[in-house]
Amino acid sequence: MQIKTVGVLGCGLMGSGIAQVCAASGYRTVVREVDDTALQKGLGWIKKFLDAGVTRGKVTPEARDKTLGNLSGTTTFDALEDCDLVIEAIVENLDAKRSAYAALENVVGDRTIFMSNTSSLCVTELAASTKRPDRFGGLHFFNPVPIMKLVEVIRALTTSDETYRTAFAFAQSVGKEPITAPDRPGFIVNRLLMPYLLDAIRCYENGLGTLEDLDKAMTLGCGHPMGPFTLLDFVGLDTSYYIANIMFEEFREPMYAPPPLLKRMVLAGRLGRKSGQGFYKY
Ligand code: CAA
Ligand code: NAD
Repeated sequence: MQIKTVGVLGCGLMGSGIAQVCAASGYRTVVREVDDTALQKGLGWIKKFLDAGVTRGKVTPEARDKTLGNLSGTTTFDALEDCDLVIEAIVENLDAKRSAYAALENVVGDRTIFMSNTSSLCVTELAASTKRPDRFGGLHFFNPVPIMKLVEVIRALTTSDETYRTAFAFAQSVGKEPITAPDRPGFIVNRLLMPYLLDAIRCYENGLGTLEDLDKAMTLGCGHPMGPFTLLDFVGLDTSYYIANIMFEEFREPMYAPPPLLKRMVLAGRLGRKSGQGFYKY
């Protein structure tokens, strides 16, 4: 299926990056947020990233302007009417995603494909909540989207061959390296990453070392680009907490259980970089 117009639901950390790479790859891109404040914030991140790219000599001023020209923002669902593909990147919550799909199905055509950027929810369950389980799948981008090369393409039990092929080709067309991941909690990357990040919090709770030393251990000792606490703050502690709960619910294994400190930090509004404070202050 040919994709010309892409809709993105959510212009937060992930949605803004996804909208940016779609627009940069020549797709007419419409990104939807819940209100104008959230929309302007997300669009501001995109502009800032593109401007920084120009300053660094990584993006030409023409490419920046073309990307911004392909991109529009909205707070309505109606503006997504003409989309061939909609990528959903809203909060990691089943009910919120279900109600967004229901609103979307009132306006888009039958052929429109839905893809979720979920980190850990069951894609088959998401697909089953729509009237298009065959035209539904997972397209899991990584943060920061414009820089990270990987995309996991997830087939729900119901995803048709055509939808899967279209999603895989789409990921390539936006300059990413797709891999096929199973519809199991955490897919491939988060299945490996989350137990490590959650264990780092447990180690910190148990007094293994300071935040700085634990981060230094993994950056300088293992060559990771970010230590676990810098990465948790980067991903968002709310998102990490939701993912842990979803994975624990499915596996019932202690290594996926959200540590008490993570829960308390989320309850205190310390969500990481995006809120100005997480394990570190920004
Ligand atoms: N425009 C264009 N290019 C830019 C840019 C911009 N505004 N800003 C940076 N870049 C380019 C740089 O030029 C550089 O490219 P080269 O390697 O070709 O030189 C590259 O991006 C990296 O930039 P920096 O060197 O300035 O940045 P850095 O070294 O500080 O790295 C980072 C930043 C890439 C984020 C790195 O810290 C990193 O990889 N961190 C780990 C991120 C990670 O693990 N993400 C996955 C999270 S888990 C997830 O997403 C899944 C989930 O479901 C939770
Ligand atoms: P975020 O909190 O930064 O952004 C979510 C945005 O969605 C918010 O701005 C919110 O206002 C908006 N939103 C909520 N309901 C909406 C609706 N009905 N329509 C349009 N917008 C709506 O979260 P995020 O980190 O961008 O995560 C989004 C999704 O991507 C989640 O499913 C998450 O698991 C997944 N994900 C996150 C990361 C990460 O590193 N943060 C990586 C990969 C995947």
